[in-house]
Amino acid sequence: MRERPLAPPRADSSDRRRLRLLLPPALEIEAGHELDEGAAQRLGLRQVVNIAVLTAQRAAHACSDPIMKALMQRLWEHSVGCAIGAKWIAEHANCREFASEAFMAGLLHDVGSLMLLRVLEGLRADQPGQPMPESLMLEVVTALHAEQGAALIRHWALPESYAEMASSHHALEFDSTDTVGMLVRLADQACHKIGMSLTPDPSIRLSTLPECSALRVKEIALAELEIAIEDGVSALA
Ligand SMILES: [Fe+2]
Ligand SMILES: [Fe+2]
Repeated sequence: MRERPLAPPRADSSDRRRLRLLLPPALEIEAGHELDEGAAQRLGLRQVVNIAVLTAQRAAHACSDPIMKALMQRLWEHSVGCAIGAKWIAEHANCREFASEAFMAGLLHDVGSLMLLRVLEGLRADQPGQPMPESLMLEVVTALHAEQGAALIRHWALPESYAEMASSHHALEFDSTDTVGMLVRLADQACHKIGMSLTPDPSIRLSTLPECSALRVKEIALAELEIAIEDGVSALA
């Protein structure tokens, strides 16, 4: 039995430092290089923000601890896969106008997992003599990431819709008028199904999911979705 159970993360000074690593910077594509105004207008602000957050999130998943590095890589691929998948479904399910927002929501929906892995990474570094099994880490992440992710998104003052997405994406019930929410939930399940996840589940049948019928996604499109996610992630991740 563990003598010291893992508590929900508290922001001590080192955690605050880690949290700063996760903050989306102001439209920076690479450290020290901001987009000029003309480039931002040509791309469209939403796309620029998506690129900026994608870049920041990629940097935030960097890690030197080999065990944590492998988990971070899986989480990064999952988040990118979910972003790509949610956008792809929007573009193929007659709701193209939500594509950009769905991409961002997909990228951020599991940001609580990233924060918790960072906190666990710090605990492992502080207590090198006390091994922390991967199963325990995944248990902590699974139990706490939705709530912690929503809190982090609110701390960043990002739109409340992203916080609600992070908070509710594993809820059994969902709002069938929330198109972005359904896009992310379906893409999330697709990523779990194809193994692009911290907790893969190949038994998932996408065609039976209520989000699939609510979005009127045809069964043939689901196979294309899986390929689009895999191709997109190998290009981006
Ligand atoms: Fe999740
Ligand atoms: Fe997820």
